[in-house]
Amino acid sequence: MTATFSAVIDLDVAGPTISRHLYGHFAEHLGRCIYDGFWVGEDADVPHEGGIRADVVEALRAIAIPNLRWPGGCFADEYHWMDGIGPREDRPRMVNTHWGDVEENNHFGTHEFMALCELLDTEPYISANVGSGSVRETSEWVEYLNRSGDSPMARLRAQNGHPEPWKVRLFGIGNEPWGCGGNLRAEQFAPMARQHATYARDHGENRLYRIAAGASDADYAWTETLMKQVSHGLGDTSPRETFQAISFHYYTMSGAWSDKGSATEFSREEYWTTMRRAQHVRELIAGHAAVMDAYDPTKKIGLALDEWGTWWNVEPGTNPGFLYQQNTQRDALVAAVHFDAFHAHADRLRLANIAQTVNVLQAMVLTDGHQMILTPTYHAFAMATGHHDAQSLAVHRTGTGVQREVDGTTVDAVSVTASTKDGRATITAANLDPDAAVRIELSLRGANTGTVTGRILVAGDVADHNTASEPNRVAPQDYDGARIDGGTLSFDLPAAALVTLELEVS
Ligand code: AHR
Repeated sequence: MTATFSAVIDLDVAGPTISRHLYGHFAEHLGRCIYDGFWVGEDADVPHEGGIRADVVEALRAIAIPNLRWPGGCFADEYHWMDGIGPREDRPRMVNTHWGDVEENNHFGTHEFMALCELLDTEPYISANVGSGSVRETSEWVEYLNRSGDSPMARLRAQNGHPEPWKVRLFGIGNEPWGCGGNLRAEQFAPMARQHATYARDHGENRLYRIAAGASDADYAWTETLMKQVSHGLGDTSPRETFQAISFHYYTMSGAWSDKGSATEFSREEYWTTMRRAQHVRELIAGHAAVMDAYDPTKKIGLALDEWGTWWNVEPGTNPGFLYQQNTQRDALVAAVHFDAFHAHADRLRLANIAQTVNVLQAMVLTDGHQMILTPTYHAFAMATGHHDAQSLAVHRTGTGVQREVDGTTVDAVSVTASTKDGRATITAANLDPDAAVRIELSLRGANTGTVTGRILVAGDVADHNTASEPNRVAPQDYDGARIDGGTLSFDLPAAALVTLELEVS
């Protein structure tokens, strides 16, 4: 018998806005993300614009990526931005010791990144080097990026061909300081971050949104230590908080850190462990948010999950330091589980970045020479654009839901999330069961509904993925299986399927 998931959605009771920045991306100098992925250089025979791959830009524009985090990750704390400006042939070379021990020629630097963001029509999110950089470097980078008129850094930028400031808003202070960013304790990092944040000045009318590097997973003590520092400016006469947001990182894997599991060959047991761990993100966001509530009850400070996604063993035969992995329907479902959790916590969670965009970890696109393929995760992002900047709608489950016991924990086998914007409602539903269909029945209250349109991403098996020879094995199709009858929207979801429905509401 087909299991049924039923819920009520009040279309006239809109919750917090789902910032489009929850659908952010990440590009690190790691493996083939920047070099070969985004950047092919001006002499490449792959179609490009000023050295930036045209096919990758076109694909990413189509999913409306709201922000792009750069240059790391762990690389950010080894990066000295002045090495990446000026004539390319004169830029110093370094070794990317963290990722693959390969040469970094600094050909992709600040100007190239800002040109990429302009092509993508996305907001840059730049992370400063706190681990091995200086406060002066941070201060001068912000001046270089954002100051107009006559100043040492504004003049240098003009000499390098860009007289106008870029007005970058999103600015990270460090990365994983508890690990690759310096192996610091929170008590050590917090004053360093305050110092860097102080000298990351607002220039002109531009207001930086400073994001202090935060915890790993459930390290709530780290968040608390940072909140104690940030709260210094709250409620008194201080002109601004030290940081505007605090981040944390959480990755999903089916195995242990030393053997994370294969991207494409996994058992049903590993599959369900993956889903359990993906759903854990909801508890983690709630946990960090609860700590923040104690210091900032009016939610001025944002929470940023600026690294998330699946992390598998690298594809056999590839450089272990390059983190190149395939991407299956399982990854698309992991993404859907995260979107659901993000929407549920949109009141505190203001930004999130999947790791990473091209050729690294849970990527949107994979490139190989002239070829580029779109991954199932790309399609999950494409199907979610209706939620960008929409107001969240609570999904009130009726009955017991459709659940399953995994490793002694109850896991939801169905995810349904909804939002509303401009006279439309967007509903995304995922059936996480890889072997059985499920029926969805949603009682829609509080508004009249009109035409329903839909897209479905479904695969023969959860391990299905796209390759150069089969680039569209997993690709979305139009879906017309949803019906509204007496105010109830119902549809059948095949095993491991992801559906997005758009409804007119009035
Ligand atoms: O995304 C890969 C790496 O994961 C990042 O460089 C680091 O911040 C995290 O550990």
